[in-house]
Amino acid sequence: MTATADIPKLELHLHLEGAAPPKFIQSLAKEKGVDLSGIFDEQGNYKYDGFVDFLRVYEAACTVLTGPEEFYKLTKAVLEHSAAQGVIYTEAFVSPDFCGNNDVGAWKEYMAAMEQAATEAEATDGIILRGILTCIRHEGPDTAKLAAKCAQETAGDWLVGFGMGGNEMVHRQADFKYAFDMAAEAGLHLTTHAGEWGGAKEVRDAVFDLGVERIGHGVMCIEDMDLVEHLAETGVVLEVCPGSNVALGVSDTWAGHPIERLRAEGVKVTVSTDDPPFFHTTMCREYDMLAETFGWDDARFAQINRTAAEAAFCDDKTRARVLKRLES
Ligand code: ADE
Ligand code: ZN
Repeated sequence: MTATADIPKLELHLHLEGAAPPKFIQSLAKEKGVDLSGIFDEQGNYKYDGFVDFLRVYEAACTVLTGPEEFYKLTKAVLEHSAAQGVIYTEAFVSPDFCGNNDVGAWKEYMAAMEQAATEAEATDGIILRGILTCIRHEGPDTAKLAAKCAQETAGDWLVGFGMGGNEMVHRQADFKYAFDMAAEAGLHLTTHAGEWGGAKEVRDAVFDLGVERIGHGVMCIEDMDLVEHLAETGVVLEVCPGSNVALGVSDTWAGHPIERLRAEGVKVTVSTDDPPFFHTTMCREYDMLAETFGWDDARFAQINRTAAEAAFCDDKTRARVLKRLES
């Protein structure tokens, strides 16, 4: 078996803000005189109690990401770390709620800073980054429309998708149809968090009400085998984040995680970290745990990464470059 770090990997589900190392946030807090001590434990790791509290801590950490410069530095730090994990292509979720409060002009400046950092990281480390603009479900449908407006105005080679994160237990997927339709009209690909907490119904709603091509997590579809069959037949891709699911308690254990059962049923699964420092994970750790728990080997990982390349939201020229690197 190839050393895990040497396996070329794609990551399709990574929250840029959620990938901020605690030290990065702590140093910004110090610089700006903001007291964020309550969101860290004694070891300096993020501290939270369950999913809703995780979202609170996440948003508190974001308060020190106050301008494009912070997002430039964050993007650089995250990509350097990902490249060291053998990641060759990343799609990162970024929310305009944290980038100028959904103002289109401000968002353009933040996005330019991230794109600049991505261009530099590609030149130095060969890693490719594309963006997925993300609305936040618990902020509600009207705020999501503002996010979709930002997405419409900046859709292109770098901003390739529109998505939704946040608390799945409030509102319904269908409430966001207008925002998702706006994004689709602008040529953006669609994904949404579903079936991380809200059961198989959420996955159904995501597919049938929003018409997404990919689903963030989606693992609770396992409760409904007709739906699993539908996902397998139609090729909807799941952005599975097993370490996140175990850390947050979506799955009690790695052995009990449904990723292998879903794969065996023919569902297109991919592997990502979600918010790695929050969950004490990395892409290498995810792969090591999948190898240890389910016996996944080089051939299996190669297949998973081909699936991810085929499901990536980038243009076909970029996809061809990525597929070529997977082959070499
Ligand atoms: N935002 C960041 N991480 C998330 C997760 N795991 N679920 C929903 N929203 C999120
Ligand atoms: Zn996520």
